Amino acid sequence: MDFNSVWAAMEECQRLNLTKSIGVSNFSCKKLTDILAIANIPPAVNQVEMNPMWQQKKLREFCRANGIFLTAYSPLGANGTFWGSDRVLECEVLKEIAKAKGKTAAQVSLRWIYEQGVGVIVKSFNGERMKQNLGIFDWSLDEDELKKIDELPQSRAVTGVAYTSKYGPFRTVEDIWDGEM
Ligand SMILES: NC(=O)c1ccc[n+]([C@@H]2O[C@H](COP(=O)([O-])OP(=O)(O)OC[C@H]3O[C@@H](n4cnc5c(N)ncnc54)[C@H](OP(=O)(O)O)[C@@H]3O)[C@@H](O)[C@H]2O)c1
Repeated sequence: MDFNSVWAAMEECQRLNLTKSIGVSNFSCKKLTDILAIANIPPAVNQVEMNPMWQQKKLREFCRANGIFLTAYSPLGANGTFWGSDRVLECEVLKEIAKAKGKTAAQVSLRWIYEQGVGVIVKSFNGERMKQNLGIFDWSLDEDELKKIDELPQSRAVTGVAYTSKYGPFRTVEDIWDGEM
């Protein structure tokens, strides 16, 4: 994959006012470093998997230091998809915090992401759950709750295996995530 040429073409789109901003998705710190080295316009955003079970601490720090806004996809763990599971919504720690606050585990997860200064891209086809997912702005998590979430065991849902091929740009998952597993 010739990322540099693709990025140059995306910069041209912005210069031509075809888009307001340009960004990337699923980029590791290494891929961001490579793009920043050649970019005239740095990526405005990097959209990656993030939720309490995959907190992206290193990437968050890197993006903050480089002025790249991070947005979180699969913020509830993508339950119901082929790659996701109920491990966020059924997480005992999140459920306990939710119970104590009169919220749902989904709201605790979304609020935690929001408190990290990260954008949230949550998906629901259900009107009630859409409302629930918007109800995260008038309360906050306390220090003890944040500490418990911070200590949750980490693993990603999107492993990337489905995107590897010996004929393609990513032969292994290592090629996709650059060791940031
Ligand atoms: N850039 C990328 O590589 C990438 C990869 C994956 C996903 N994405 C994008 O990220 C967005 C969201 O991620 P996602 O769909 O993977 O996962 P998600 O938002 O974590 O989870 C969606 C699932 O959670 C359910 N849900 C939503 N709100 C809920 C609530 N309050 N309580 C309980 N269940 C709830 C939804 O069901 P209902 O619809 O029935 O409510 C759906 O099954 C999507 O728009 C997707 O396109 C981007």
